Amino acid sequence: MSYPYQINSFEQYQAAYKKSVENPESFWGEIAKNFIWRKQWDKVLNWNFKEPTIEWFKGGKLNITENCIDRHLDELGEKPAIIWEPNNPEERTRIVTYNRLHKRVCQFAQVLINNGVKKGDRVCIYMGMVPELAYAVLGCARIGAIHSVIFGGFSAQSIADRLYDAGAEFIVTCDGAYRGEKVIPLKSVIDDALIGNRTVKKVIVYTRTRTPVSMLKGRDIWWEDEMEYAEHQVEKDGVVSFPAEEMDAEDPLFILYTSGSTGKPKGVVHSCAGYMVYTNYTFVNVFNYQPGQVHFCTADIGWITGHSYIVYGPLSAGGTSLMFEGVPTYPNAGRFWDIVDKYKVNILYTAPTAIRSLMGFGLEPLQGKDLSSLKVLGTVGEPINEEAWHWYDEHIGKKKCPIVDTWWQTETGGVLISNIAGITPSKPGWATLPLPGVQMVLVDEKGEVVEDGDEATVSGNLCIKAPWPSILRTTYGDHERCRVNYFATYEDLYFTGDGALRNKDGFYRITGRVDDVLNVSGHRIGTAEVENALNMHAGVVESAVVGYPHDIKGQGIYAYVVLDKVHGAHNNDETLTRKDILQTVTRVIGAIAKPDKIQFVSGLPKTRSGKIMRRILRKIAEGEVDNLGDTSTLLDPSVVDEIKTNKL
Ligand code: PRX
Repeated sequence: MSYPYQINSFEQYQAAYKKSVENPESFWGEIAKNFIWRKQWDKVLNWNFKEPTIEWFKGGKLNITENCIDRHLDELGEKPAIIWEPNNPEERTRIVTYNRLHKRVCQFAQVLINNGVKKGDRVCIYMGMVPELAYAVLGCARIGAIHSVIFGGFSAQSIADRLYDAGAEFIVTCDGAYRGEKVIPLKSVIDDALIGNRTVKKVIVYTRTRTPVSMLKGRDIWWEDEMEYAEHQVEKDGVVSFPAEEMDAEDPLFILYTSGSTGKPKGVVHSCAGYMVYTNYTFVNVFNYQPGQVHFCTADIGWITGHSYIVYGPLSAGGTSLMFEGVPTYPNAGRFWDIVDKYKVNILYTAPTAIRSLMGFGLEPLQGKDLSSLKVLGTVGEPINEEAWHWYDEHIGKKKCPIVDTWWQTETGGVLISNIAGITPSKPGWATLPLPGVQMVLVDEKGEVVEDGDEATVSGNLCIKAPWPSILRTTYGDHERCRVNYFATYEDLYFTGDGALRNKDGFYRITGRVDDVLNVSGHRIGTAEVENALNMHAGVVESAVVGYPHDIKGQGIYAYVVLDKVHGAHNNDETLTRKDILQTVTRVIGAIAKPDKIQFVSGLPKTRSGKIMRRILRKIAEGEVDNLGDTSTLLDPSVVDEIKTNKL
């Protein structure tokens, strides 16, 4: 593989950026020519942000799996596509070559067909981090089914909501998943999600943990049996083939649910061609990927980072992607470093939360670790504090690896703001410069564009002027929601929901969400969603949730809860009631949404029109009790004193 569009100097970055803004169609058209198309596009780009309508490479025909697998077979067939490291370091590792990946994906595509899955059908995937998860994702893409991967930490209720929203009729899951010391009973969670469900036709179950599972006749089938049967269908005389479905450039590739400031999570839809081109382009450039390098992205494929930088980006580039089943602290806090040494990892891409949590173990877990294979380090998902940045730089990168701070979102499909490893400058805490094709603007409260002024650094709400190839196309089943959420706040702009600073060099520093979305350990959680879960608990009258600074998670969840006046805490036991409430949140959303603190209050600070004054609650949670600002518009200012006094 060679990457003619790889940027090799700062001047090349500037030239690429300039061209991408002046002539986006020619810029992206040239890059797209490096992929395999069944038919070339008629038009590179059609767009308006009003409806919005965004079409990249319209009229082009392709299949992303031919670009991620088939085109590499001649040159890279026996090279590793996926290196899999199990949860338990004693267990056998698996090296999946491109040939093997091709065979497995063809087999699984055949399994889907054998079970009645058709192009455009939605397939929900709820699995642990095993290579079969990648086969399932790519098998769907091969036949044009739309995959919707759900992270293994979400509850049955969350799965049921997503199945309903996506109208999914097929599920791929595992009996269980290993995560550190724990075994997560995935199939059993699926069974709960399916109580009363009449639309799901088939559940394909891969055996990983040998956890006992119920298998419903006619609905539940074993992965292994299905794959064995399909093997004979796709392999003749040692030659494996399964023709990939021809997809339109704009056909949906996948749905991924993510939290917003209101309502239930929305299904962000990405389409085939633009997503492929952009994840490949950013993978090759941001990390300065060189053929043969081992790329280790520590995310779970249940999140966008795993979709783009474990599966589609690296594989479309013929790269080697390391997939890790476990957690950074099992069996001990040196696990990441052992993996880096074991496979001579060249690129390590992780979240600031993981860095902060590993920093907490001191330098002992780094004793005896070599780490000299590392060339590039990356972070994603949340702002990185300077202390963590320097620790990463000094102790992991040994001050010789550029650190890329990559800012992006589920909706953006790929990285939008980041330094380019070794090519453009880095600055601790700053995501720095937008990548080619990305036209950021800052907008003030009134919607006016913030220009660079005399002030060295300006701030505003982060927006984008024009589409890049992997921008979301819609929110599944509700285009209006997509318009209102992202394109209606400011006319003709995509609004990210983040606030940012820009310095005199044009570098961006993300300051965090400006809406009611929390970022806990790099995971997005809507305050409204958590409140909804809290309010479902018997005895809870109402609640308000805000974020507060947390040393490791970045943000923690602080909940103010009003209990039923008559009954109060169940059995007068507040500690137990807190635990009960946490159980409810775990049931409704999943353990990742459990509040870190629950303060029982007799009332919430509200304006006379009944609106909760979150600003005040946020300040109290942040510990700034003496600086609450104007409270004169409150209906009952005395609640604030009570809340302040009893702050946790
Ligand atoms: O607030 C920003 C934060 O994560 C949000 C997107 O979350 P999600 O869709 O789950 O995607 C996370 C992985 C791409 C953003 O709106 N965020 C993401 N990356 C950074 C960041 N904040 C600061 N710095 C980053 N590098």
